[in-house]
Amino acid sequence: MSGVHVVILAAGMGTRMKSSLPKVLHPVGGQPMVDHVLGAAATLAPESTTLVVGHQAGAIQAHLSDRPALQFALQVPQHGTAHALQRVEPLLAGKTGTLVLLSGDVPLLRAETVQLLLATHRSASAVATVMTAVVERPYGYGRVIRTSGEIVGIVEERDASPAQRLGREINSGIYAFDLAPLFDALRTIAARNAQGEYYLTDLVAVYRRQRLPVETLTVEDSREVRGINTRGELSEVNTIMKQTKNAELMAAGVTIVDPATTYIDTEVEIGPDTVIHPGVLIQGRSKIGSGCEIHASVRIADSELSDRVTVHNFCLLLDSKVAEGASVGPFAHLRSGSIIGHKAKIGNFVELKKTTFGAGSKANHLSYLGDATIGANVNVGAGTITCNYDGQKKHQTVIEDGAFIGSDSQLIAPVRIGKGAYIGAGSSITEDVPAGALGVGRGRQTNIKDWADRMRAAQVKR
Ligand code: UD1
Ligand code: CA
Repeated sequence: MSGVHVVILAAGMGTRMKSSLPKVLHPVGGQPMVDHVLGAAATLAPESTTLVVGHQAGAIQAHLSDRPALQFALQVPQHGTAHALQRVEPLLAGKTGTLVLLSGDVPLLRAETVQLLLATHRSASAVATVMTAVVERPYGYGRVIRTSGEIVGIVEERDASPAQRLGREINSGIYAFDLAPLFDALRTIAARNAQGEYYLTDLVAVYRRQRLPVETLTVEDSREVRGINTRGELSEVNTIMKQTKNAELMAAGVTIVDPATTYIDTEVEIGPDTVIHPGVLIQGRSKIGSGCEIHASVRIADSELSDRVTVHNFCLLLDSKVAEGASVGPFAHLRSGSIIGHKAKIGNFVELKKTTFGAGSKANHLSYLGDATIGANVNVGAGTITCNYDGQKKHQTVIEDGAFIGSDSQLIAPVRIGKGAYIGAGSSITEDVPAGALGVGRGRQTNIKDWADRMRAAQVKR
């Protein structure tokens, strides 16, 4: 859509968050809240998108540095929302059309609702369209003031009279503006209010005095325009986002045994007939196939699971890939860069890091496998450890197809175990083992005849 310019306000201090992280970078549904706002904005196909930054501008710009199309306007110091919008004027000089103003701290707003705002604004030929909502608890929001049904102004909580405070129609802080009169009108706004700030909300009264048409769009679901000013509101918005995601997944055929304790980030994809048990967190860019079973108390982040994968209780999977039919856990830890093959089995108390584990291979109990490439149909006995770190450098272990690693073996890297080779239980392997060979590296057993009887006899004498 041409002639649309999006501006997102994100310069404020976010004082009430009491945080060293800029408010708009706090995650909602696993993504910084500003990312959700940018996502909704992008669906308007705007000619330009500008983020107004000020407080901790550097951190916000660094987070968004991979978005070349995004412009930044700097507002330092911050003298209010009208002052913030004025900072955009040089960037939009000579532009005509519609400015859609969004707020960096209102992340639940749906793309459809922003599109409806634009459509309403255009069909009314208004100079400004204010998105409003009717809420149970209006405390803290600007109230919409109407005369004979028409909006005549917005008054902030702190400046409102007791009668005005009873109003339950609030300003969402989201607007569409005709660009032509906008910046001249902003210059007429004064900072005569409780906070001594330049309030964008005063624009409504300015336009009404000029007898220009101001429209409103009241959203059906007021939760969409919930702003985040405090940690309490952050958690409420996160809950709403989580409920929405769970509902979408269930509608698409995923079983969620206990939605109240299931936390699935917005971007996660899950196939049908997968069952998610209570207390599961699936985060980041994770993708789960169909027919999987994720048992209770599991966290999966930035990982890909193919179809029919089972993850037993109490596992942590980070930045890993698990192929079809494989099984992980209970109590397994797949660290960054673990790749589990088709129908492979990772059992309890097994930790992997940067390790490829081949199809049909098994490590059923108590192992650490780091910086290793393990082939297909390998059996890793209980207590096997790849000693990948010499105190300075990490080294690679290679175990070829069909090898059998006896229990309690240490494979001191760099080392290679050839195809089909055997390692005797309890070995410390420091040298490569050729294909088909048996590697044994341990002290030979000696049995000392009658030792116990002699020891006991000596104790009796003492
Ligand atoms: C604002 C509205 C209020 C509305 C509410 C909805 C004003 C005066 N009030 O109040 O009517 O009900 O949003 O959530 O507009 N910002 C800047 N620069 C500034 C000040 C703020 O960029 O100088 C940004 C903030 O970072 C934030 C947004 O503008 O993203 C809103 O500011 P905030 O201070 O949260 O305003 P509210 O008090 O919530
Ligand atoms: Ca706010």
